[in-house]
Amino acid sequence: QPIHLSDYRPPAYRVTHTELTFDLAPSATRVKARLHVERHPERQAGEPLMLDGEQLALKAIAIDGQPLGEDEYALTEGGLTVHRVPEAFRLDTEVEIAPEANTALEGLYQSNGMYCTQCEAEGFRRITFYPDRPDVMATFSTTVIGDAEREPVLLSNGNPVERGELPGGRHFVTWEDPYPKPCYLFALVAGDLKKVEDSVTTRSGRDVTLQIWVEEENLDKTDHAMASLKRAMRWDEKTYGREYDLDLFMIVAVNDFNMGAMENKGLNIFNSAAVLTHPHTATDAAFQRVEGIVAHEYFHNWSGNRVTCRDWFQLSLKEGFTVFRDQCFSADTNSAPVKRIEEVAFFRTAQFAEDAGPTAHPVRPDHYIEIGNFYTLTIYEKGAEIVRMLCNLVGWEAFRRGSDRYFERFDGQAVTIEDFVGCMAEASGLDLTQFMRWYSQAGTPEIDAHGEYDYANAAYRLVLRQRTPATPGQPDKQPLHIPIRLGLVGTKSRRDLALTLDGEALGSDAVIHLCDEEQEFLFTDVSEAPVPSLLRGFSAPVKLHFPYAREDLAFLQAHDSDGFNRWDAGQRLALLALDDLIAAHRNGVEKVMDPRVVEAFRGLLTLEADDKAVLAEMLTLPSEAYIAEQQPLVDVDAIHAARTFVKQSLAMALRDDFLRVFEANQSEAPYSPEPEQIATRSLKNVALSYLVSIEDEAGIALAREQFEADHNMTDVRQALTLLVHSSREDLADPALRVFGEKWAHDPLVMDQWFSIQVTRPHSDALDRVKFLMDHPAFSLTNPNKVRALIGAFTGQNPVNFHRLDGEGYRLLADTVIELNRLNPEIAARLVTPLTRWARFDETRQALMKAELERIRAETLSPNVYEVVEKALA
Ligand code: ARG
Ligand code: ZN
Repeated sequence: QPIHLSDYRPPAYRVTHTELTFDLAPSATRVKARLHVERHPERQAGEPLMLDGEQLALKAIAIDGQPLGEDEYALTEGGLTVHRVPEAFRLDTEVEIAPEANTALEGLYQSNGMYCTQCEAEGFRRITFYPDRPDVMATFSTTVIGDAEREPVLLSNGNPVERGELPGGRHFVTWEDPYPKPCYLFALVAGDLKKVEDSVTTRSGRDVTLQIWVEEENLDKTDHAMASLKRAMRWDEKTYGREYDLDLFMIVAVNDFNMGAMENKGLNIFNSAAVLTHPHTATDAAFQRVEGIVAHEYFHNWSGNRVTCRDWFQLSLKEGFTVFRDQCFSADTNSAPVKRIEEVAFFRTAQFAEDAGPTAHPVRPDHYIEIGNFYTLTIYEKGAEIVRMLCNLVGWEAFRRGSDRYFERFDGQAVTIEDFVGCMAEASGLDLTQFMRWYSQAGTPEIDAHGEYDYANAAYRLVLRQRTPATPGQPDKQPLHIPIRLGLVGTKSRRDLALTLDGEALGSDAVIHLCDEEQEFLFTDVSEAPVPSLLRGFSAPVKLHFPYAREDLAFLQAHDSDGFNRWDAGQRLALLALDDLIAAHRNGVEKVMDPRVVEAFRGLLTLEADDKAVLAEMLTLPSEAYIAEQQPLVDVDAIHAARTFVKQSLAMALRDDFLRVFEANQSEAPYSPEPEQIATRSLKNVALSYLVSIEDEAGIALAREQFEADHNMTDVRQALTLLVHSSREDLADPALRVFGEKWAHDPLVMDQWFSIQVTRPHSDALDRVKFLMDHPAFSLTNPNKVRALIGAFTGQNPVNFHRLDGEGYRLLADTVIELNRLNPEIAARLVTPLTRWARFDETRQALMKAELERIRAETLSPNVYEVVEKALA
């Protein structure tokens, strides 16, 4: 059942031009397809024509105008085979599909009455019979016929070339896309949409019209996406020399969408949550997310569309590179160190957990059952970390030359990861053979580092040892090429010392290369005892262990020249203190706060030397999920108790400082998503969270005021969260009621309202989930709602999800079983927390496995089947 990378063959036939006609109707849309087909030159003549197709009712089929007899073709489970075809021919088919019944949200479906499509990865086969694989690239000409009143707007890829009225109140528009593309980039949208329009002129002088299409009530929520799009277009011209290549670029917002957004050629379709913003409905984080996703999809026009993937094993070719591009864009437009901190904090929590679990897979997997299960943190984020390492290894200039070479050489082609890395090797002259292992080897490498200062010889000896733990199907691992950026911070001078390695002067911030299992690095002329600052900027996606004393970490937190490592030193220090407290909790011993952590925080609060955005990050304790990631066995209750204890101890010891910081960063200025304002708000809101954590009267009053002032969603949401999560029982419900009534009409705000309540640590959280599943604003067929309610509960409420009575697990399994029928892709994603059973105690393991078994006993979609099988293997 799984398909293998090693089985790749070019398609027997390719399609050069595709003509589609859609006659839209909710339960019976007719799709006519005319494919211009020819034999692939590398394949022999006489092979049957095999087309993919699912849930299609075939109405007509003809070759070169001749209808086929029933013995000339066969309908199979996954498609259609025509036994004998000429070398080159025209295939006409007509099928009927039912968009209104499509709850999987793949192919053509309806969302709030409007028609839209999602074809990546294999959704096009639910639209018409076609070779649904990315190495078949054709130009498309698409006619959409709809009801003139219900669907005044009819969109597809490329440029509109013809439109007109038809009998019976119908009308049509024909679109032409001149760039050959795989069918996964096809898109169609039809409905009663309104647009916001703008324009840009590209560097070479092309005038491009930019449109964002939304439902009328959302017309006031598009400014930020439009501004982000224009910034992204400029940035890609300046940074990568990439220009837009059509006269029209469209974005459409839809409410029901499995992922964030989709880069369809000229017609990007977005989850409304990834495009709509308004100061009163979206938080700073949402504004930044929108900016990042708009840029990501736009950047795909080159890294993905003009140059695409040969097969889905190469998914990270476009996703890893494009994530890296959007990360750099966001770093350039916002606080760069904070962007990196946020990326890494997320990566080390979620991707490391994936790498350590039963679904661990290489960035280029070598087999899969359902490609929909491989839109993962490993493919996207680890893929981006690999591209980042490449960029750092070869240097920006060679990287840019390699990128130019890649786009030029492979324009209009479907290629592989070797093709990309090959361009980088050519442009830099570096041998990247060992580096390629990053793509084939799953699991998170761990580095054990030791260092000692030799006073007599003024030398620092650093020993690094790497190992990658076994992952499913990969018991033995080979050493990787790991770039480690580092500095030696002098304990007297508090400065980075000059680095000399093997007689070569490297400056004070250098990259060393760990390629063997174990390597020793001897730095000479080290004039004073240093503390090493290792893996600066998270220069490789690894776990680095170094036996730091807590004093060393406090020192680095205060004095490291690398902002990222200052933050990381603080996190490591907090983690050590948390370890003690977790042990104390488990052993029933009294908890004692480590004074070094208090002093480190006092230093941060009183010096306020940092940029506010970084300071806010440094004042944020590691999340419960990240703490869990560090523990050999996860004890959710001990982790929650320990983290709460640290937070409250800091709040009590530094109450006046937090209050002062809060007050100094209050602002009445009109909302703007500018980095300085965001920084000020983050700092103020972190301070507030400490004050409310100890039920400080002044703090609670401030939170209430902030909630009632209703200045912007960032502040309102933070205040509401603090009130709802507070141990003061009287605060939650009145605030929730006010908020819920005020925003009942806005689905994206209601998503936040759901999440805030079901992530509260109180023991009523699970009952709230059940109760809210019957709320009129909830719907199991809307992925945003499922994530906001079920996903938030299982992912961000560990103490309640892992209840010892197993009710949290049962609720999740029940939901997965129901969703398995409605939306397999979402169901397979949702089940993830249960797959991590091995990290918990025996009682919980047994409960979680029992729920997985219960799911497995159902008739499963390939998506859920693949995940559950791996989890129980
Ligand atoms: N290519 C899209 C993006 O990263 C994601 C589409 C994923 N689709 C899916 N059905 N899993 O921007
Ligand atoms: Zn993408």
